Amino acid sequence: MSFGKGKIWMNGSLVDWDDAKIHIGAHVIHYGSGVFEGARCYETARGTACFRLDAHLERLFDSCKIYRMEPRLTYEEIHRGVLDTIRANEYKACYIRPLVYRGYHTLGVNPLPCPVDTAILLWEWGAYLGQDALTNGVDVCVSSWSRAAPNTFPTLAKTSANYANSILIKMEAVSEGYVEGIALDTGGYLSEGSGQNLFLVRNDVIYTPPVTASILPGITRDSIITIANDLGFKVREEMLPRELLYIADEAFFVGTAVEVTPIKSVDKITIGNGRRGPITEAIQQAFFDIVTARVDDRHGWLEYVYEGQPREAVTAVARTARA
Ligand SMILES: Cc1ncc(COP(=O)(O)O)c(C=O)c1O
Repeated sequence: MSFGKGKIWMNGSLVDWDDAKIHIGAHVIHYGSGVFEGARCYETARGTACFRLDAHLERLFDSCKIYRMEPRLTYEEIHRGVLDTIRANEYKACYIRPLVYRGYHTLGVNPLPCPVDTAILLWEWGAYLGQDALTNGVDVCVSSWSRAAPNTFPTLAKTSANYANSILIKMEAVSEGYVEGIALDTGGYLSEGSGQNLFLVRNDVIYTPPVTASILPGITRDSIITIANDLGFKVREEMLPRELLYIADEAFFVGTAVEVTPIKSVDKITIGNGRRGPITEAIQQAFFDIVTARVDDRHGWLEYVYEGQPREAVTAVARTARA
């Protein structure tokens, strides 16, 4: 099953994909008054597991709070909804898209009279920028579009409206022949890609823009900082000038969709030797080892989806996978 097939969860009920419809008068369609998440579940050596689902749902509820949206369903109900929907669709691995949005009532700008509806949509989504990108990296540009200025569109909220900016960044990059665009903040400091966070490596130190640089605080970004610290690297979150990109030894994107994707050039300037660098590779390897349960889940990031995994068999499979 994949995009276009299966069951979708809407306000607590599973409906067929083709019946998951909302009215053209729904507030969200006109004003972008929705907040959403993008998470993944992976097929691991021990069964199907969601990666950091709790962290994603906490960010969903943070986004709701910023936009004064009170979901009619509780955190626990939405959490259970994600697991139930994966089970109903019998996915082994998939992308998970919970969406909370202002529905159909009136079309004044004021969203408050409109209902707060929730949907959970799943589909199979492999490597976002292609399998080759994970190994060989991508060519990117610095966008002519900036990320939103502070106190305009809150970037700590993952809201549909923010993706108007992402769409502009992505379209510009693609039409200029690049795979992705990196946006600066309105102060001219490095911010992030259209749908992913940014890391640089220089002289064995790992750098990433801070949350004050108009970024979405990525769950993968947080995981990568933890993994890099676990591996003994020095990680610095600080405002970074654009030109640090060009003289970096390595650069890479991280995010639920792109996972850990090396960057091989920016604005046609080769980064390092134009290939996945050794620190990027070490971090990427550690990330995939964790999400596929090839190593112990020491941070408690995996949540298994299906009941009744035969314990003995599971251990045997995991042992074989590690060997
Ligand atoms: C603008 C933007 N930045 C960063 C990210 C990475 O966030 P996460 O790692 O939580 O997927 C995303 C992905 O959703 C994004 O859309």
